[in-house]
This record gives sequence, structure tokens and C-alpha cells, in this order.
Amino acid sequence: MTSTLIIPQEKLESGVVHWQSPSNIAIIKYWGKHGIQLPQNPSLSFTLRNALTETKLSYAPKESPTSGIDLDFWFEEQQNDVFGAKVTKYLEQLLPTFPFLEQLSLKIESVNSFPHSAGIASSASSMSALALCLCSMEDHFFGTLGDDTVFDRKASNLARLGSGSASRSIFAGAAVWGQTDLVEGSSDEYAVSVENRLHPIFKTFHDDILIVSDAEKPVSSRAGHALMNDNPYANTRYKQANQRLKDLLNALESGDLEKFGEITENEALTLHGLMMTSNPSYLLMEPKTISIIQAIRRYRKETNIPVYFTLDAGPNVHMLYTEEHISSVRGFVHDELANLLHEGTYIPDFVGEGPEEV
Ligand code: PMV
Repeated sequence: MTSTLIIPQEKLESGVVHWQSPSNIAIIKYWGKHGIQLPQNPSLSFTLRNALTETKLSYAPKESPTSGIDLDFWFEEQQNDVFGAKVTKYLEQLLPTFPFLEQLSLKIESVNSFPHSAGIASSASSMSALALCLCSMEDHFFGTLGDDTVFDRKASNLARLGSGSASRSIFAGAAVWGQTDLVEGSSDEYAVSVENRLHPIFKTFHDDILIVSDAEKPVSSRAGHALMNDNPYANTRYKQANQRLKDLLNALESGDLEKFGEITENEALTLHGLMMTSNPSYLLMEPKTISIIQAIRRYRKETNIPVYFTLDAGPNVHMLYTEEHISSVRGFVHDELANLLHEGTYIPDFVGEGPEEV
């Protein structure tokens, strides 16, 4: 699709747009895609608060008109050509809809709130922050995104093209990405908010990110999604995700923690089960991941405190619990989990308010 978004010569000017955007943790997992970054099943995540990326995009008219993207990329205050090449590729893909990007020289400065070595996937926060910057730029030059819903949908759509899960980070509280009759307005192309479906206990929910390893993943998410194409359980899995989304939405609405926990933990293990049953098979859990999972289950049984785990595509464990139990759970982390954590590190996070313009 071609676009009319070309800046008239007299309006070409320099400027800066600046956003911070959080990561999110999927409860119903997106695993498997088709077409151009379209999901095989709807997913639902909580938007986080502390794990975030701050991205500043400065732009100026190109000194001489050239074709293509002119980008200078900085990560954590250092020029980073490897990340720069990836972002350039992403922006090139957007040129049919954003031809004005070719008229400008761009500088992107991006920092994460969490240590780079923490092994936390940063694609959701970084791609959503960048997508929001691009939308602010579009709105500045063309005034096309004044309506908040239109702005958020476009940002979510652009974020999705960079990283599927990033589409969900645009929204406060919780979001669903992927078409489903269960959520009005839902789409495979962008996420929508389901914050209004959250019982109050989930609005202040905690997610302590327990760092098990900071090593780079041996299999990327991109490769993992691709392996779903030949996974013998794929179709059953996609059906299961739809059914679970229905049950999860009921639990989120009614505040049924037990049901929430049952679905959440099974989703995490299903995700890793799909990795183990891919061809070639692979494991992203580490022995300490399993020790932590077992410790959480034991602690829950002994204390009756509703604390649950989920996993991303990696070895770190996200521990989920209500605000009410914070002091007991923190005691559990210090007394029983600390020696299982990489350098004793965990990142206390919780359900957040979504991105903010800086
Ligand atoms: O957004 P991607 O392509 O990095 O895939 C992320 C997939 C999971 O994090 C494992 C699940 C999810 O829904 O976020």
C-alpha cells in the first residue's frame, strides 16, 4: 500500500519525539505466526511498569536528498551499529506507509531501565517505544493521529511489525492481541486494551522477575515461532489457547486467583513443551528454573498464599502474586530463592499504566 505521507518542502524541519514504554508478560502465550507477523492464536498479557525502554528519536531534514533510511543508532549511550542495522531494516519495511522517513536524517537513542545482562527480552519495550515515536512524528507532520484510539492502534500495529508481543505493550493494565469473539474490536493486526475486564486485585498485581541466567538464548523467538510450522501439536495448541483465553477472561473478571494460577502455570509449561516437541527440539529452562518452579509450588501448598509462576521464551521465572501478600513473598524470595538467582538478582515489577511520552 502506498501512502500520501510526504512532508511538503516548506514544512520540513528538525525535532525530537521521546517515549518510554514498558515490557509485558504474556499469560496466554503467542507462539506461532503466519503471514506478516500475524499470530496463530490470540494472546493476553499484563503490561509491566518497571521494565521499560526509553527512546528518543531526533530528526532533521536530510542535507542532500538520498533514497533509503539515514539512521544513527545509540544504545545505552554508545553508538551501536548492530542494533542500528536491525532498526534500519525495520524502518525500510515501513517506507511504503511512512515515505517521509526517507526525507529525514534520524538519530535514535535508546536505554533500558533494566540491566542489559539481565536476560530480559527487551523487544516488547523497545519496539513499542520506537513505534510510539514514529506515530508522534506522523502526528506532528500530518495531524493524522489526534484521536487517541487511532493513535494507539497505529502504534500497536507498527510495534507488532517489529515484534509481535510489542503490540500489547501500548496499553495500560492488560491487552489482547489476536482476533477473538471474546474481545470486541480485537484484531490480528493490533492489540486492544482489556484493562476494563480486570478485577481490582489484578490491577496492582506483582510480577517479580527472577533472573536465572543472563546468557543469550540459544534459539531466538523468531526461530522458535518458525518451528511451530512443523510442530505436530500446533493445531491442538492453537485451539487450546482460544479455550484458555475464555477461561482466563472469566477468572480475571471474577478475581478467581486459583483458576488464574492454574491457567497461567499451564500456559508457561505448554510454551516450553512446544519447544521440547519442535524439530529440532530444544530446552530454554535451566535446572534452576525448575528448582524455582518447584519451590514456588511448595511454598504455595505450605502457606496457602496464591503465588504463581510464568515463563517467557527463556530461563527466567516471573513470579505473580497479589499486593496483599508482598511482605510474605519477599521473605520467601530472600530466604528460599536468593541462592538460585543469578547474582541474587530479581527485578520487582507490577502491572503498570502503559507508555508515557517523556
Ligand atoms: O514477540 P516475539 O516474537 O519476541 O515473541 C514472544 C513470544 C513469547 O514471549 C514467548 C510469548 C508472548 O506472547 O509474549
